Amino acid sequence: MAKKGKLQKFAEFSQIPFVFENFDPKNPALTNNEGDVVNYQNRWSDYFKNDHPIVLELACGKAEYAIGMAQLYPDKNFIAIDIKGWRMWKGAKKVLALELNNVAFLRTRIEQLELFFGENEISEIWITFPDPFLRKSKVNRRLTAPNFREKYRKILQADGTVNLKTDSEELYQFSLQSIEGDDSVNLLKADSDIYSRDEVPEILQIKTYYEKMHLENALSIKHLVFGF
Ligand SMILES: C[S@@+](CC[C@H](N)C(=O)[O-])C[C@H]1O[C@@H](n2cnc3c(N)ncnc32)[C@H](O)[C@@H]1O
Repeated sequence: MAKKGKLQKFAEFSQIPFVFENFDPKNPALTNNEGDVVNYQNRWSDYFKNDHPIVLELACGKAEYAIGMAQLYPDKNFIAIDIKGWRMWKGAKKVLALELNNVAFLRTRIEQLELFFGENEISEIWITFPDPFLRKSKVNRRLTAPNFREKYRKILQADGTVNLKTDSEELYQFSLQSIEGDDSVNLLKADSDIYSRDEVPEILQIKTYYEKMHLENALSIKHLVFGF
């Protein structure tokens, strides 16, 4: 069978029932698979039809983390977020195959996050192998930069946590220094090489597409946790 191109994956992705997309950053509306405009801000529990905690995976790519966590924690709901539908398509197909009912996909720029979630609506955030944006001019695009932390603070519950998993020493050091210099943020954990430990918690053993590539290149994987 011929391999599917990006456009075909993108079109298929939009048809999947648990997929929501923002097509215009100037118009903060979400469109569902039937083309209807929907608003779940403060009401994601209505969508999932339960009051389980809601966890976000940001920069999800193929959403391996959201899917892995959804299997480990059936009593939590997961929303995988990225801007690239053709990448998310692969994860969405897997969710269909696994018949998971605790995963949704939101295609939007992460800059728009607080438009789609209410205050205290989110219990946990995982940022998985985000682009490190090494150039100084792009520092505000790093997903742990103060401008993004402000967005996370708005939607996280008081005891909520933000997890960063990365191979990038530069992004890890930047995040650490930026958080340590910010009195309003609590650094809860900083581990520069998770697989060097005797015991690696099950949740940290989930491996994404990018993580597998970095491990093949013998890069160490870092994990940082903070709250507010
Ligand atoms: C290096 S990939 C990692 C994908 C996946 N988490 C993994 O580990 O395999 C980074 C992802 O972040 C997404 N991304 C980067 N900046 C973003 C933004 N501001 N809003 C939405 N997605 C973004 C990209 O589209 C890309 O899919």
